[in-house]
Amino acid sequence: MTDTIHVSVAWPYANGDLHVGHLAGAYLPADMFARYHRLKGNRVLMVSGSDAHGTPISVEADRRGVSAAELFQHYHRRFLETQRAVGISYDLFTHTDTENHARVSQDIFRTLNERGYLYRETQRQLYSETEGRFLPDRYVEGECPVCHFQGARGDQCDNCGSLLDALELINPRSKTDGSTPVVRETEHYFLNLAAFIPALREYLATGKEHWRTSVLNVSRSKVDDLRGRPITRDIDWGIPVPVDGFEGKRLYVWFEAVIGYLSASIEWAHNIGQPDAWKDWWYNPAARIYNFIGKDNIEFHTIIWPAELIGISGLYDDGSRPINLPYDVPANEFMNIEGRKFSKSRNWAVWVPDILERYDPDAIRYAILAALPESKDSDWSWAEFVAANNNELVGAWGNLVHRMLTFARKNFEGRVPEPGPLNGDDQGILLRSENAFETVGNLLSAVKLRAAAEEAMNVVREANAYLDRRAPWKRIKEDRADAATAVYTVLRVIDNLKVLLAPFLPFSAERLHGYLGYEGQLFGDQVIRRYDEATRTHEALTYDATKVSGRWQPGELPAGQALREPAPLFKKLGATPAEEAAIIEAERARLGAEVS
Ligand code: MF3
Ligand code: ZN
Repeated sequence: MTDTIHVSVAWPYANGDLHVGHLAGAYLPADMFARYHRLKGNRVLMVSGSDAHGTPISVEADRRGVSAAELFQHYHRRFLETQRAVGISYDLFTHTDTENHARVSQDIFRTLNERGYLYRETQRQLYSETEGRFLPDRYVEGECPVCHFQGARGDQCDNCGSLLDALELINPRSKTDGSTPVVRETEHYFLNLAAFIPALREYLATGKEHWRTSVLNVSRSKVDDLRGRPITRDIDWGIPVPVDGFEGKRLYVWFEAVIGYLSASIEWAHNIGQPDAWKDWWYNPAARIYNFIGKDNIEFHTIIWPAELIGISGLYDDGSRPINLPYDVPANEFMNIEGRKFSKSRNWAVWVPDILERYDPDAIRYAILAALPESKDSDWSWAEFVAANNNELVGAWGNLVHRMLTFARKNFEGRVPEPGPLNGDDQGILLRSENAFETVGNLLSAVKLRAAAEEAMNVVREANAYLDRRAPWKRIKEDRADAATAVYTVLRVIDNLKVLLAPFLPFSAERLHGYLGYEGQLFGDQVIRRYDEATRTHEALTYDATKVSGRWQPGELPAGQALREPAPLFKKLGATPAEEAAIIEAERARLGAEVS
């Protein structure tokens, strides 16, 4: 049975580079999950894009003295390069400033309005007399009414996570010039969330056994007292409100960003020339939609986005079947950096484009995976990065592969040797690696990625122990046929491990696939494409999944297959303990450093 899986990944604000917290929070888990399902032969659609609008972009653009469009285009371009380099295999990574996204967002706004889910209300808003404009969201800062943190933003407190209305801030001040704003009236559209309470209760009550407890608790605690939320803003950067008299206002960025999951699916279908293909994920009752996000975004994905979807159900379809709501929202916690909270302003951050200049993508992926904040906040530590690379990737997995490939090439005419009868130990390790497809696979499909990777690495360790017991490099002097059997066995195990580890370590798995003598690729190619038509000219990261040739099942590496000359899969960091310490020291010194 082929499953139909939608992997919806949080849209990063295009106002700064990606840091390891982005990868740990959403992008890597989503990629590993999607790669697993593709190998499994399931139909996967993985989409996201740059979140281009709203005050997060315009405030930063003002600060730098560039236009919002210039700022977002700059970072969109960098997101494409960075994510391609670290292997986030989106079927489409687009952005929210396309024609297509504006059209879908406005259609959704109109549909909700026609169906009576929106209302207009005059709202009191902070207004800057010195600047002569309203100050939405991030244009204001002040004291959090909940936890009394001093630097809370107008939309959310980064200290306690509460979503805020700027009017609730104690001692608000304009972020642009520090002046104290006044309150003025302005008219906005509101999403009547109260109208969705019964449907949302029902959604959160049934079939949620697979949800993370924290996600379910946060969501359920919000449902009962939902009130209307304004979904338009007094701002000039964003998607116009499709109503006469609202020319100077824009759709609220969160209202439209979540719509990106749907609009990007539609854009993808358009781009491949099958305009209805997106419906297999959104209107097929057997499809499952997974939203990969960080914990600060839970409410938007388990309350607001489902409410929007319930409100538009049937849109673009014949109305006979409901639209799919998220099947799971496996939100991750936060990743701290060397024991301290990530801070963009203090540059307490590990930037992905920067570390890609010094380290291989699989080494970065593995270190993040080992510290994935799946159930509690975790920590990025440079000492652990170096240790994980040197001990586990190089020491355990890389060495197993390298010593066996070079040994087989040297002693068995460059081919997988012909085995004799397998003894109990041989059969045991081979079976262990074959059974791991089920155990690792079950953990992956339950979105327990850290446990899945640990299980695969256990097989690596057991394979090393087996090899030490069998010691073919000694046996070959006494019994060449028996050594051949051991080498054959371990190459079969390596071939299985290649696939078991491929969702986590796709770059090295792809190379190993070639060293083992296979033709073709394990995974498809990631390509940055330029789209012109109907999407407003833009570049997007795309993925050619038709090339996925690996399969999530025990392999059948045949005796006699010619092996290619291998290079080590991973690079050791530092040749001596002193050199390792120097690398760790140099990396720590970059944290918090001034940036030009
Ligand atoms: N841009 C938001 C952030 O970086 C995430 C948006 S997720 C989406 O926190 F669902 F709205 F797309
Ligand atoms: Zn707070």
